[in-house]
Amino acid sequence: MFTIENQATGKVFRTEGNGPILDDALIHGLNFPYGCQKGFCGKCKATIIEGEVGYDTDVPNGITPEEVADGMALLCQCHAKSDVSLVVEELDSLADIKVKILPCKVESITHLNHDVAQIFLKIPGAESLQYFAGQYIDLIHPDFEPRAFSIANAPKNSNLIELHVRLVDGGKFTHFIFNEMKEKSLLKLEGPKGDFFFREDSKKPVILLAGGTGFAPIKSIVEHAIATNLSRQIYVYWGAREACDLYMDLPQQWANTHDNIHFVPVLSEADEAWQGKTGYVHDSVLADFEDLTGYEVYACGPPAMVKSAANTFVAQGMIKDNFFSDAFVFAYTKEK
Ligand SMILES: Cc1cc2nc3c(=O)[nH]c(=O)nc-3n(C[C@H](O)[C@H](O)[C@H](O)COP(=O)(O)OP(=O)(O)OC[C@H]3O[C@@H](n4cnc5c(N)ncnc54)[C@H](O)[C@@H]3O)c2cc1C
Ligand code: FES
Repeated sequence: MFTIENQATGKVFRTEGNGPILDDALIHGLNFPYGCQKGFCGKCKATIIEGEVGYDTDVPNGITPEEVADGMALLCQCHAKSDVSLVVEELDSLADIKVKILPCKVESITHLNHDVAQIFLKIPGAESLQYFAGQYIDLIHPDFEPRAFSIANAPKNSNLIELHVRLVDGGKFTHFIFNEMKEKSLLKLEGPKGDFFFREDSKKPVILLAGGTGFAPIKSIVEHAIATNLSRQIYVYWGAREACDLYMDLPQQWANTHDNIHFVPVLSEADEAWQGKTGYVHDSVLADFEDLTGYEVYACGPPAMVKSAANTFVAQGMIKDNFFSDAFVFAYTKEK
């Protein structure tokens, strides 16, 4: 095991040394910059201050011999051969993230319940998408206007993007996804988009409020928090109509395995068998937290839920600047 230290931020992680340094940095939740992950684009370049790195094959094209002589390395291709101190500017704001249009292939479609499908999109070749936990993409198909969907997996070193798509009554694109789109279908995506992303520099406890498939970006945030060993208290509230609409049991697993993660499911149309909370999900938060002054809130889902939470939480002490949200308005209204 070797220790890698980024002198630009003071952050440290450990690596076995048998894979690219970039992979381990991303797995440990460090936002190292990258692009192609294939040694072509040079976006993952870092200056090695101390220690030794090596490449499995020839030095890749994305770095010049002069840069190598100056102590630079491509972190997507090189592995550590000793403890390493390096300097690389980690991404810490949206300004650092480039919105791209990328081709993608449907890797799998899994129906999680009667009206939610989990879709994995694979970005082929030398491209990948860098994003912050919580952001979304626009899915582009030549027969439709682009449609927004939140990214459900954590920003790790992966060119697989997970989406949770709810079938909208009379919705053209979601009907296409449910009835016609097949594995291996080719689409494009544009992203990452949105300023709904997890603020990592804060120490405040966090309330994550999800309505329906608003759980998707909340999942990305919690998976990222787990990957970075975040010790802040995290309260996940997931609201839905009926028990079958809570389409994953992951949040309960997080709560069972992490002392700082708590999960409260809330149903608005529960049947007699339901033992948990009932009503609107934001009302459960209000009932459980008398004073929201010291909390950060991330809310995602139907516009009505997001709006009600914003208004009522402020009345209960929440500071407006500590409220972050994405309302699932449908594509056209958002564009107007
Ligand atoms: C930032 C952002 C992130 C999003 N993330 C997700 C996500 O992760 N998962 C997900 O399932 N959805 C998400 N949405 C919503 C998603 O974009 C819409 O459900 C989708 O565009 C509907 O497309 P459609 O062609 O099926 O419906 P359309 O054909 O565009 O709409 C058909 C009719 O259905 C109604 N309608 C459509 N969408 C909605 C809606 N969201 N709420 C209420 N009524 C609606 C309207 O009355 C509309 O006239 C997100 C939206 C935004 C803005
Ligand atoms: S990410 Fe493109 S060269 Fe490393």
